[in-house]
Amino acid sequence: MKPVRLLIIGAGDRGSTYARWAIGQPERARVVGIAEPVEARRTRLAADLGVSADRLFTDWREAAARDRFADAAVVATLDDQHAEPALALAEKGYHLLLEKPMAPREADCERIVAGVKRAGVLLAVGHVLLYTPFTRRLREVVDSGRVGEIVSLDRLEAVGWWHYAHSYVRGNWRNESTSSFLLLTKACHDLDWIRYVMGERCESLASFGSLRHFRRDQKPAAAGDARHCLECSFEPQCPYSAPRLYLTMLGLGWQGWPVSVVTDDPTEENVRAALSTGRYGRCVYESDNDVVDNQVVILRFAGGKTASFTVTAFSEYAFDRKTRLFGTRGCIEGDGVKLRVTDFVTSQTEEIDTGSADPAQVGGHGGGDLALMDAFVSAVAQNSPTPLLSGPDETLESHRMVFAAERARREHRVIDLLR
Ligand SMILES: NC(=O)c1ccc[n+]([C@@H]2O[C@H](COP(=O)([O-])OP(=O)(O)OC[C@H]3O[C@@H](n4cnc5c(N)ncnc54)[C@H](O)[C@@H]3O)[C@@H](O)[C@H]2O)c1
Repeated sequence: MKPVRLLIIGAGDRGSTYARWAIGQPERARVVGIAEPVEARRTRLAADLGVSADRLFTDWREAAARDRFADAAVVATLDDQHAEPALALAEKGYHLLLEKPMAPREADCERIVAGVKRAGVLLAVGHVLLYTPFTRRLREVVDSGRVGEIVSLDRLEAVGWWHYAHSYVRGNWRNESTSSFLLLTKACHDLDWIRYVMGERCESLASFGSLRHFRRDQKPAAAGDARHCLECSFEPQCPYSAPRLYLTMLGLGWQGWPVSVVTDDPTEENVRAALSTGRYGRCVYESDNDVVDNQVVILRFAGGKTASFTVTAFSEYAFDRKTRLFGTRGCIEGDGVKLRVTDFVTSQTEEIDTGSADPAQVGGHGGGDLALMDAFVSAVAQNSPTPLLSGPDETLESHRMVFAAERARREHRVIDLLR
């Protein structure tokens, strides 16, 4: 069988991760085109993957204007730049791997799914958590029936106090006008995952949440007028101290995320300079953030089953989400790596290591990044959706759950998804 030919749209963090999967799988996939405006990203990836110069583009529109020259496209531009390339490339006959969320507006998600169906192409969305060894093993345990029927589920996305301050108070996802609401940017994975594991249709939901803490009126009096941590006398007592976070990591020899986001060249001098004036050194009570710092969603599934989901800033930084599943014959606890399965007949608990702890072994997102790529390439090679764990309809359903939950939060009401 010939290798699947891939066109990469957006050679940033995600696009390069998916593209580089092909390096180790030359018999299964080859990257034959890259569209990326940032020259350094485009040329570095092209050199590493051996893409010829006539298939390098500075904009997805140039690639889409050509006759189709690949079997599939990976669309990994930023969220509000998903719908147009996805629709144009589907119309050209490219199968699509589209990053999540499909789009920041529900109507665009619907347009994408309609366009994909009209074109008759495959659609995989970057819900990588479905594909991890952890989720696969969990589904095996659930499907085996050993804990009976799952009646309820509880999931916690513990963002972590410093991660929340970095990304959602000071960073790219802090404000809805420049990004989107937290449930979409951080937790659309989770509602999709809950839908997948419950294996039922969500019939109704409600949600509460607020920006409780990272506001001017919560600023400790001792912090006075300080706008940046480096000028604040309260900084040593503040849990959200920027110098403590970034300089401690740097002191330990770590120059990757999140330090690399503060400055491209993370020396101590550069980090201090960035913190003294830049947004990553800003007081968390004096930022222009407006996304919630805590939110809960409660969900009712077909047959009267229930689930709850919490996303919070006020936690330890966790490797992965924590989930508990409650069945009629047993229950399961999981942390993204290990499962603890308790049997109600024997009262015995078995601990199962799903082998997803080490990113160096399994890749990013607990192995989900590489496993999604593997499934997508298989699906394209077979021209069949079978290897994909969720298709256009399921993905649209879970995006609709996310938009509905946010509406429920804003409007203080229960939303019936069957209407
Ligand atoms: N599945 C996951 O778990 C996961 C994790 C992180 C991010 N994401 C999503 O992946 C997407 C990409 O995120 P990222 O972190 O890689 O961002 P990024 O900024 O690193 O990459 C986006 C790339 O798109 C390029 N681009 C901009 N305009 C373009 C155009 N007209 N044509 C072609 N390329 C263009 C940018 O130059 C950039 O290199 C986002 O939608 C994000 O929400 C998903």
